[in-house]
Amino acid sequence: MSQSLPAILEEWKCMDEQYQNIQDTYKIYVQKLDEISKLQSSCSASISNQRRRLKEITQSIKRCSNDLTAEEAKSIEEMNGKIKTRPNLFLEMESFLPKKNGIYLNLVLGSVNVTLLSKQAKFAYKDEYEKFKLCLTVILLVFSFICYFFINFRFVDAILNFLLVWYYCTLTIRESVLITNGSRIKGWWVFHHYISTFLSGVMLTWPDGHLYKVFRNQFIAYSLYQSFVQCLQCYYQSGCLYRLRALGERHNMDLTMEGFQSWMWRGLTFLLPFLFFGHFWQLFNSLSLFGMAKLPDCKEWQVLACGLCFLILFTGNFFTTVAVVRHKIKSKNETKAKNQ
Ligand code: COA
Repeated sequence: MSQSLPAILEEWKCMDEQYQNIQDTYKIYVQKLDEISKLQSSCSASISNQRRRLKEITQSIKRCSNDLTAEEAKSIEEMNGKIKTRPNLFLEMESFLPKKNGIYLNLVLGSVNVTLLSKQAKFAYKDEYEKFKLCLTVILLVFSFICYFFINFRFVDAILNFLLVWYYCTLTIRESVLITNGSRIKGWWVFHHYISTFLSGVMLTWPDGHLYKVFRNQFIAYSLYQSFVQCLQCYYQSGCLYRLRALGERHNMDLTMEGFQSWMWRGLTFLLPFLFFGHFWQLFNSLSLFGMAKLPDCKEWQVLACGLCFLILFTGNFFTTVAVVRHKIKSKNETKAKNQ
């Protein structure tokens, strides 16, 4: 429908006013961005300065901790208590400040800033990571199922292994971003994904000989089982994430934390038998491969390399999981004692 000229002029006037408003808002936005970037630099500089001074003051306290009066000892003790909590508080602050990427992220992404500046954005990224993991795990589960029961063809196995390499590579990048944003993922789980990438890469290059055929079904069955366990693990970890989000503030709401912990323990006690079974399957794979490596007709280096990878995976997974569970039991007891 065509408009008359006065109506067009009126609309243009209105649009022009709106444009002025946009310009003003944009100017304020740029100004605030500039202020934020200055505040970020000043906060980061002050934190590094405080860290250095904390170190110095701790050493000075050590040096003059002999021959103290009761009052001096008390104030030193108070000071020590505060000094101990400061590094964690600084770490929490730093998770909201831009920082330089580590070597890995620098190599993969360059020096782009990956710090997410709000709690919601961090939760959303983690949530998306869990969904990505679940989605890929289901695809891997279906793929391994098909390879185990229906298709025994080296080319299709190669696609499965390639998918595994790509999946684990992507996880290492996403986890590095999560760590930069204050996630407490233990270094071992990231290392675990590097080893798994290497292992799947080696499986990809293993030629289709007699030994490959012997180990193939065991490996595919293991992949199938691992995908199944990872689905359970994703369900558990998304559950933890949603409950933590519902708590609002993390780490410092002990009352509601108890409710969270009771859910977490129910999830963990269900999950742990499956996890440990998976770890012993890794050990079994490694022993089978070491047995194969001793055979006189074993010429492929992949046998020993995969055996070693499985052994490292078993050792790291088993001991880290035991350490995680022990730590959780300890903090559960501490929370109980606090609330009594
Ligand atoms: N991969 C990636 N991230 C992991 C992880 C894993 N295996 N285990 C823990 N995390 C993350 C958590 O999501 C959490 O992140 P956040 O700080 O961003 O919230 C952080 O590390 C700390 O988690 P934590 O409280 O120590 O453990 P949890 O309760 O989340 O999970 C286990 C505990 C035991 C279930 C988990 O570590 C696990 O599944 N381990 C076994 C993995 C394994 O062996 N896989 C092979 C199966 S055959």
